[in-house]
Amino acid sequence: MILQKTDKELYDIIQEEFERQQSHIELIASENFVSEAVLEADGSVLTNKYAEGYPGKRYYGGCEFVDKAEDLAIERIKKLFNVNYANVQAHSGSTANMAAYRAILQPGDKVLGMALDQGGHLTHGHPLSFSGIDYEFYPYFVDKDTETIDYDALEEKALEVKPKLIVAGASAYPRIIDFKRFKEICDKVGALFMVDMAHIAGLVAAKLHPNPCEYADIVTSTTHKTLRGPRGGIVLTNDEEIAKNVNRVVFPGIQGGPLMHIIAAKAAAFGEALTDEFIEYQKQVVKNAHVFAQKFIDLGYHVVSNGTDNHLLLLDVLSKAKMSGKKAENLLDQANITCNKNTIPYDTKKPFITSGIRLGTPAMTTRGFRENDFEEVAILIDMILMNPEDEDILKQVKARVKVLTDKYPLNYYKPTK
Ligand SMILES: Cc1ncc(COP(=O)(O)O)c(C=O)c1O
Repeated sequence: MILQKTDKELYDIIQEEFERQQSHIELIASENFVSEAVLEADGSVLTNKYAEGYPGKRYYGGCEFVDKAEDLAIERIKKLFNVNYANVQAHSGSTANMAAYRAILQPGDKVLGMALDQGGHLTHGHPLSFSGIDYEFYPYFVDKDTETIDYDALEEKALEVKPKLIVAGASAYPRIIDFKRFKEICDKVGALFMVDMAHIAGLVAAKLHPNPCEYADIVTSTTHKTLRGPRGGIVLTNDEEIAKNVNRVVFPGIQGGPLMHIIAAKAAAFGEALTDEFIEYQKQVVKNAHVFAQKFIDLGYHVVSNGTDNHLLLLDVLSKAKMSGKKAENLLDQANITCNKNTIPYDTKKPFITSGIRLGTPAMTTRGFRENDFEEVAILIDMILMNPEDEDILKQVKARVKVLTDKYPLNYYKPTK
């Protein structure tokens, strides 16, 4: 790295972060490790280029090659999700959601979104988010017993609220979402339908989960979670009018110049996502999550909804380990296992404390973890949580984490075998 000579201070920080990534078991469900190809495009000369506008209609000269990169990203993502229109310029998932709302709503419109403490994202109506400020959000919930979306109650709520839009999609929901049922409810109440598939986009791309583009008026996603691309957002639709609105709202509505290096990296990731290897990877992500959840159930934990259909699970740590999610996250951190505290449905604790942790398989599956590795990680997590004061156990677990992370090195920058 040139930085090693020119800016040792920054070089050391990047090295430290690389070492952290290499030496920790990464279980944050929204993270992943991009391929070397994605990283290369991300760090390419395209970062130098201003290209306000869209391919063929730019406000700057010299865009002939970045136009090709953006066209490539658009063509690939359209193919991946079998959709007619795509905007690949959104800088993030939040910006993509802002663009989607602005493309189809007026300020003050009513929107139904998943309760934030049951899986919904901040941009689905948190009072401090633009979404909660600009629109009138109403929450829908999961059933207390099954801990899965209560579609009947959602329908009742939709009939009562008469929203302009219903949003499906979540940051912490472990089950397949019934987009068809959502669409039926939308049709019944005359609402538009939006899906934020940020978490499950990779699973959808691999056809392991239903494709929301078949049902929704508008679909948004991040590109950096299961989809394993650079940090960023996308907005998809089959409706020409909505597509025109989205493009106008993204630029000049919300953003200025697009991040052309990121768009090139998106193109690289979408290309990878079209391969059979990617489908195999996603199948492994789901298999790993299934076994991971089952192991916790066998160890006597309450796993929200009693398992998972996707890449994540929500572990209730309060009921077995008698500690908050916050404490569990901190303890696991000490053992080089990274995750995040998370509310569980009908949590009795506040969002900053929580009764649960969210655990995801995408990142370590990219590193090569298989079912038996995740079973071992479940045992290691249990050892830490059930023996919070025990230094010997902590040492033992750290040693096992080292064996595992050494066995599957982050030898940048290779995608999964
Ligand atoms: C469902 C969902 N939507 C949107 C976002 C926002 O993405 P970003 O962090 O890129 O703004 C997230 C991020 O975690 C998410 O989980």
